[in-house]
Amino acid sequence: MKAVVLEKTEGTPGQVYYPLKATDLPIPTPAPTEVVIKILAAALNHKDLFCRQHLYPGVDFDIPLFGDGVGIVVAAGTPTLERQWKGKKVVLVPGRGWTSDPNGPETGNYATLGGTRFLPNEGTLQEYVAYPAEDIEDAPLHLTNTEAAALPLCGLTAYRATITKGHVTAGQNVLVTGIGGGVALNAMQFAAARGATVFVTSSSEEKLSKAKELGASAGVNYKVSDWEKQLAKLLPKSRPYLDAVIDGAGGEIVNKTSGLLKHGGIIVSYGMTLGPQAPFTIKALLKNIEMRGSTMGSRKEFADMVDLVRNKQIHPVISHVVNGLNNVDELFEIMKRGENFGKLVVTVSDEGDQAKL
Ligand SMILES: NC(=O)c1ccc[n+]([C@@H]2O[C@H](COP(=O)([O-])OP(=O)(O)OC[C@H]3O[C@@H](n4cnc5c(N)ncnc54)[C@H](OP(=O)(O)O)[C@@H]3O)[C@@H](O)[C@H]2O)c1
Repeated sequence: MKAVVLEKTEGTPGQVYYPLKATDLPIPTPAPTEVVIKILAAALNHKDLFCRQHLYPGVDFDIPLFGDGVGIVVAAGTPTLERQWKGKKVVLVPGRGWTSDPNGPETGNYATLGGTRFLPNEGTLQEYVAYPAEDIEDAPLHLTNTEAAALPLCGLTAYRATITKGHVTAGQNVLVTGIGGGVALNAMQFAAARGATVFVTSSSEEKLSKAKELGASAGVNYKVSDWEKQLAKLLPKSRPYLDAVIDGAGGEIVNKTSGLLKHGGIIVSYGMTLGPQAPFTIKALLKNIEMRGSTMGSRKEFADMVDLVRNKQIHPVISHVVNGLNNVDELFEIMKRGENFGKLVVTVSDEGDQAKL
């Protein structure tokens, strides 16, 4: 079967950009606790770009890339698992080693799927993958293959940031920054599904308009130096403050938003696209603002996220789709140019959406 891995070349972390390499691997046979999944579609995450730049821990040149995917179960390690799963369309939990503790992984060995040595042989950029049966969920029936492939990693990260750490509830005002991003769009959808009023930022007027079509109340362009002042004018008179900020960019986010947040407001930081720091300020401290780090999430949060998506009939936003494992490079180029609004997906099998079971 075909798979896509990284090709090792000379270069230092941050300077290097490893090419993609197609490789042939044997179709896996399942261990007694596993199923074999025929991948239908897979999706790119920022982490995969970091792997190519050697800025992600544990980069491995033999492990297929990508942690997002949807597929059909074609085999199982025991007759019981076969009866339970064979023929079902499933999404893969994109991390391992974290059951349910809201504070973080119980094991200290949390590993994410795709491109690293921490989960050998696993990654969704291959035609078949053997996967623990306890780490799959039925794909929500209202989703197409590309939408289902787009959901796992960003959905999980957004769920933890918005619901577990952000405590977003009905009636609140929430700011989601960088709305073109996959996590940000899910965060906007989840906050809106909770009944919050959502404000967004973006580098592009077009993306701000699209976000409003998808449920954002209003937005401002973060390229404008005083965007926080513009945002202040957009807050409703009846509730002229933010309850929470869900941020994946870092940089000056505390400085920019502490004047907008209520006393005791929450800034959830799930990423630092702009660099490895986001300084806390005395102004934020004096308002009792809490800054909370947030990562992907537990197995339980994954199941809860899939339930929310199913119950509220939420559709992940798809930016671009390419067909076939040979065309994945194009997705990386789109992400590097910042052109995406939502997720970048590759269809791996030509079974298409007829495979929706
Ligand atoms: N902690 C975790 O486990 C975890 C999991 C997933 C992702 N992440 C991190 O979260 C970040 C976003 O991930 P993603 O997959 O959603 O990436 P993505 O789809 O590539 O989105 C990145 C977005 O960042 C926004 N951005 C860039 N500069 C910005 C700025 N100055 N202010 C505000 N927003 C800015 C852009 O928004 P516009 O296009 O609207 O301008 C862009 O669309 C990455 O750093 C990623 O590594 C962390």
